[in-house]
Amino acid sequence: MSTMIVDHPLVRCHLTRLRDVATEPAEFRILVQRLATLLAYEATQDLRTASCTVQTPLTQASGERLAERIGLVPILRAGLGLVDPVLNLIPSAEVWHLGLYRDEATATPVRYYEKLPRSQPVDVALILDPMLATGGSAVAAIERLRQWQVPRIKLLSVLAARAGIDRVLTQYPQTQIYVCGVDAELNDRKFIVPGLGDAGDRIFNTQG
Ligand code: PRP
Repeated sequence: MSTMIVDHPLVRCHLTRLRDVATEPAEFRILVQRLATLLAYEATQDLRTASCTVQTPLTQASGERLAERIGLVPILRAGLGLVDPVLNLIPSAEVWHLGLYRDEATATPVRYYEKLPRSQPVDVALILDPMLATGGSAVAAIERLRQWQVPRIKLLSVLAARAGIDRVLTQYPQTQIYVCGVDAELNDRKFIVPGLGDAGDRIFNTQG
């Protein structure tokens, strides 16, 4: 079982701005991108590389290249907010989308879109979703990636509730979870408290 809370001054400061109800969508999106970059930095520490040689303008230099196929799996919609920054760090990554929304009455995930190849899964999947609340959506995504036979699954979330982390690790103990912060509570609507509201609505400016 593993959960890493990325504890870093920049993470703490950006997360604080993200929580602030006065932060408008334009800034909210940028903060999510910064935090996604910092999460991805930690989540990619154990990627395997292979030795290689390049020709510099002067001579040869030995170096490394990625030796694993990486898949980014954003959970629509809010997970889309994390794709570009992670793809900037791993330009060779494949991006496979899963559409899940949380039914407002029951807080259980509903599948509505899926774009995964039939076979030849990636070596490592990075599930991207800014929020891990009850854990229902994350568990549904992991279940699907396990059916797809991905060997290593990492979950990158900006903010988690303790209950969501516990649920994911109880059902899929091998999952590696990376978060910027963990809040203790879920309210009666299963929102993270103190939380940051509805990340999808704040990213896409659909707060109505
Ligand atoms: C939010 C969030 C997660 C999920 C977390 O998505 O982005 O996907 O809820 O809740 P859970 O851990 O209890 O499953 P939402 O359903 O609001 O959809 P959206 O991304 O389209 O806004």
